[in-house]
Amino acid sequence: MANPRRLTLLYFLIVFLVQCHSQERKAHVVYMGEKPSVQTSMASTPHEMHSSMLESVLGSASAAKESLIYSYGRTFNGFAAMLSDEEVARFADMEEVVSVLPNTKYELHTTRSWDFLGLFNDESRVRGSGGGDVIIGVLDTGIWPESDSFSDEGFGAPPAKWKGTCQKSKNFTCNNKIIGARYYNGLKEYLPKDIISPRDSEGHGSHVASIAAGRIVGGASYYGLALGLARGGAPGARIAVYKVCWSLGCDSVDILAAFDDAIADGVDILSISSGSPFQFPYWEDATSIGSFHAMKHGILTSASAGNSGPERATVQNNAPWLLTVAASSIDRKFASELLLGNGRTFTGSVLNTFELNGTMFPLIWGGGATNYSANSISLISRYCFPGDLDSHKVEGRIVLCEARSDGSGVVIGKGVGIIMPRPSGATYAPAFSLPASLISEEEISLVLDYIRSVKNPVATVLVTEAIQDSTAPVAASFSSRGPHLISPDILKPDLTAPGIDILAAWSPLGSASIYDEDKRSTDYFINSGTSMSCPHASGAAAYVKAVHPSWSPAAIKSALMTTANVMDPRKHENEREFAYGSGLLNPTKALDPGLVFDASAVDYIGFLCEQGYNSKTLRLVTGDRSVCKSTKWGRGWDLNYPSFSLAIEDGRKIKGIFTRTVTNVGPPNSTYHARIDIPFPLDVKVKPSLLSFASVGEKKSFVVKVNGPNVAQAPIISGSITWEHGEHAVRTPLVVYTVLQSALSNNPFNQTAKSAPTSPHSKGNMWERN
Ligand SMILES: *[C@@H]1O[C@H](CO)[C@@H](O)[C@H](O)[C@H]1NC(C)=O
Ligand SMILES: *[C@@H]1O[C@H](CO)[C@@H](O)[C@H](O)[C@H]1NC(C)=O
Ligand SMILES: *[C@@H]1O[C@H](CO)[C@@H](O)[C@H](O)[C@H]1NC(C)=O
Ligand SMILES: *[C@@H]1O[C@H](CO)[C@@H](O)[C@H](O)[C@H]1NC(C)=O
Ligand SMILES: *[C@@H]1O[C@H](CO)[C@@H](O)[C@H](O)[C@H]1NC(C)=O
Repeated sequence: MANPRRLTLLYFLIVFLVQCHSQERKAHVVYMGEKPSVQTSMASTPHEMHSSMLESVLGSASAAKESLIYSYGRTFNGFAAMLSDEEVARFADMEEVVSVLPNTKYELHTTRSWDFLGLFNDESRVRGSGGGDVIIGVLDTGIWPESDSFSDEGFGAPPAKWKGTCQKSKNFTCNNKIIGARYYNGLKEYLPKDIISPRDSEGHGSHVASIAAGRIVGGASYYGLALGLARGGAPGARIAVYKVCWSLGCDSVDILAAFDDAIADGVDILSISSGSPFQFPYWEDATSIGSFHAMKHGILTSASAGNSGPERATVQNNAPWLLTVAASSIDRKFASELLLGNGRTFTGSVLNTFELNGTMFPLIWGGGATNYSANSISLISRYCFPGDLDSHKVEGRIVLCEARSDGSGVVIGKGVGIIMPRPSGATYAPAFSLPASLISEEEISLVLDYIRSVKNPVATVLVTEAIQDSTAPVAASFSSRGPHLISPDILKPDLTAPGIDILAAWSPLGSASIYDEDKRSTDYFINSGTSMSCPHASGAAAYVKAVHPSWSPAAIKSALMTTANVMDPRKHENEREFAYGSGLLNPTKALDPGLVFDASAVDYIGFLCEQGYNSKTLRLVTGDRSVCKSTKWGRGWDLNYPSFSLAIEDGRKIKGIFTRTVTNVGPPNSTYHARIDIPFPLDVKVKPSLLSFASVGEKKSFVVKVNGPNVAQAPIISGSITWEHGEHAVRTPLVVYTVLQSALSNNPFNQTAKSAPTSPHSKGNMWERN
């Protein structure tokens, strides 16, 4: 036992270190908005300009040089540097600075440890070599270029517009499929398994890239599971790799550097499957800043909604110019039978590829296999965490555990297999490094009863089989839910895409299961998360872009949203659109949406004005003279968004007016009529209710008036407005929900002054990747 006096000393030491800490320099981004106009400053390059700014604050050229991590300036203005709290405050006060963000670790939206990963049933999405010469930039853990999914057979030279490079590094080469690759680790924080090149040592980046744009590969499987064709959404698209995620996470300083390059390199679509569980104001979040400048350059960024569901208001990557993608199930799921000696069987959701040949093995409860030499007790060892089990009792047995883990406790104890509880709801099937079964909590109790009732309990686990899932599509329980309380007038997530049990390429150096120490190697892996649903949408966006190269990011996003398949709200009571947005991605229909809700930087700026951003900040961000017409904080109802969200103060009357403009991208001569599908007690009027077009590109506006009685604690009331003409149905969900008044007024985006209460430098770097 630890000596209390030593603990006290340690405590004071920690307090002392924490106090010293504030003097210590930490990585920050100083964001200054639109690309520097170099002529107006004394310096001739952004780098010189940033160095001289740093020099003036840090006092010497050598200190500035040592502090600077990145100079951004290809597509927007800013830099990353090591700064003390005091230096941060000085930069934050400067006229030309929009915001100062502490470097933060973003996490991948998949879980190797215990989030969830899945399978990709592609049959329904066969699209030849779709994607044309579209370039998808992927910000992730890098890529395994030798994977069959990234072979360039039959691909010509990169499109002429491509300006990117293949960063020279040991043993990594690009090809005509992977046309560019760069890596970013400004803080030089590496673990031994990290490869200092765009090569993927983890698997996640290869997985995501192959879902978006992997070519068609026959005979791909995970140890025989999900055997069939693996294919990306846009198999003909090119891939540009930006490795920003490493063993320790994804640093925001690196993410911004990657955006700066990717935009200048000439990508068409960006895909980012990571984020922060904290909700930052738009100019304090690397992905939101980077994707804003991407949007200004005509590039749509598709981002994962996060894996923090099913709790409400957990959705991440919420900027209105981002496509925020939730995850849902597909019509295939994986099941593995657990057989007990008493003849009972249970169906587990797990990827068990180990053949036990039906042999029955002795079964033991973790609580009865306590490692007393580790001072463990039964109350603890029942969970089977590493070290708590006694290998004399576990070796050669199947162990029943009462907590989810990566199975390492049983692996270390040389057990044959593991049984553990699975999470509730629509969930994924994880892979382990030993035979495993995941059953419900109730079934766990039944197995425990069996173990207690017989002298020699035995069990076996069968190899997993793919079965039809007639409940699909259902929102994944892990998928982060709306609403987005800091922009309550924007419905997030935008749509949902497959994110459960997706088969795609993997790095042979990555772990072949959720157990990091798994020594096996696999070229294809079944993984789950919004990390996997996001690249489905990125691939579909590339496909739309290939067919309609002139469409803006907002038009592509609108096409994907208004043509999404309707999800069944009865399976999602009290969360509905907060779980799946407009519905399930339908890439083929998105090619011909009929009408689109377009928007450009000016529209988003107008929205930010409504949200209380001041003109000065917005002028820096846009680099033009945009000013807010009124400074009054208002609602974002008039942003030309392809969905409607009305947050009502709890107990108040339902009342809202939205204005929208649609652009005809379908047949020139067409008349659309509005179909209103709205439940009691809402009263919705659309004016006009007919929209007649005579040419392509023609725009028509309409007004939506929503009224209703006072409502209290209404989690979500939703319906839709659909503009119909022949085959075209342009569907937009409309949601009304109640929030507490404080949620509407304590809006961190309500930055009437730059020194808003959510000043970025007050937030620490407080989380890690899981
Ligand atoms: C280079 O990469 C290939 C392909 O993965 C691998 O087989 C080879 O061992 C690597 N060589 C070196 C020197 O790392
Ligand atoms: C199951 O059978 C295969 C093939 O005969 C064999 O290689 C494997 O060791 C067996 N597994 C067990 C657990 O008996
Ligand atoms: C049991 O505890 C001892 C002492 O801590 C440890 O060395 C051993 O590895 C543990 N056994 C298992 C199976 O974890
Ligand atoms: C569209 O409508 C106009 C006026 O009704 C008509 O003159 C024209 O021929 C039509 N064009 C097509 C392609 O149907
Ligand atoms: C936004 O902030 C300003 C200044 O702090 C405040 O007066 C205003 O009430 C806020 N807006 C809302 C809707 O709370």
